[in-house]
Amino acid sequence: MDADLIKLVNKLQDTFANLGGELDMPQLAVVGSQSAGKSSVLETIVGRDFLPRGSGIVTRRPLVLQLIHTPEPDPTTSYTEWGQFLHIDKRFTDFNEIRKEIEQETFRVAGQNKGISKLPIHLKVFSPNVLDLTLVDLPGLTKIPVGDQPSDIEKQIRNLVLDYITRPNCVILAVSAANVDLANSESLKLARSVDPQGRRTIGVLTKLDLMDAGTNALDVLTGRVYPLKLGFIGVVNRSQQDINTEKSLQDALESETEYFERHPAYRNIAHKNGTKYLTRTLNQVLMNHIREKLPDMKARLNTLMGQAQQELNAFGDDAVYGDTNQQAALVLRLMNQFARDFISSIDGTNSDIS
Ligand code: GDP
Ligand code: NA
Ligand code: MG
Repeated sequence: MDADLIKLVNKLQDTFANLGGELDMPQLAVVGSQSAGKSSVLETIVGRDFLPRGSGIVTRRPLVLQLIHTPEPDPTTSYTEWGQFLHIDKRFTDFNEIRKEIEQETFRVAGQNKGISKLPIHLKVFSPNVLDLTLVDLPGLTKIPVGDQPSDIEKQIRNLVLDYITRPNCVILAVSAANVDLANSESLKLARSVDPQGRRTIGVLTKLDLMDAGTNALDVLTGRVYPLKLGFIGVVNRSQQDINTEKSLQDALESETEYFERHPAYRNIAHKNGTKYLTRTLNQVLMNHIREKLPDMKARLNTLMGQAQQELNAFGDDAVYGDTNQQAALVLRLMNQFARDFISSIDGTNSDIS
């Protein structure tokens, strides 16, 4: 039922987008300093290599990534796993091609050097191996301008990130590297500024493997250092060396599991850390979030439907066969259909809302 609920919401989002409207939908945004491991975390959640990654400024435009769990191959193409951008009418089955397309699209809009752009890249990934999630990869928070970056780059990136995380229905994945003092974490500072009570922020601690010998992050991971209702989850992503030697994601996930299970400090909390646990937590958080937002979404839908009905009435009976009127009628029918599905789904999962 929960998976159906998210599918329905994704469908609604598409419908509203097609109608030129916008529904303020729950999203997960990945926030952190440059090279904290944001893109790496996203990749392991998706389970595929497809994001430009590395030291320096790689992510220069927001990437809005909609994961769609697709258990069966597509009937027309028989593809089992593929990506589709909003800006190009093509299905990508080679994830290296997806990475190249992201790079090219980044260059096209944000320039060849270190500039950033607010204009998002939209990518859908259909796969039997993903859970239904919408994730946003964002440029890293930075202090000092490099290359041809303007002097106010810090402010520009901050504002861009704030555009996403200020929305009350954005779940913030605040990524911090474990080998940097948490007190200096830019992601937690920014997350706190929009979510002071830590209700919709998940702390993700990367690079545990790079901490100084003899130190560990047990206090952070068990919530004793920084209060977040959704807690901190530790992960170990692939190192630059792993990327250079093309270590597979599957191998990386196995090494990660081993890392937590064997580590003397983390053994007892191994089941509450790692990428797999992070993914499960994210899905749960997203579903709870959507549930909380259902009454509001229903109200918006009713308003939009009321507007469509009024427009339709305004045409009068004479125009019944006019093109515009037919279109409006179609839109209304479509919306009615969605509203019915939507409301029955709400009633089926949560009888408090009606
Ligand atoms: P982003 O700038 O925040 O998107 O960071 P990236 O995901 O591009 O990662 C930056 C660099 O840090 C890359 O070379 C990664 O291989 C490396 N890296 C990320 N996470 C980890 C980790 O958990 N352990 C290690 N050893 N390296 C990591
Ligand atoms: Na980077
Ligand atoms: Mg990145």
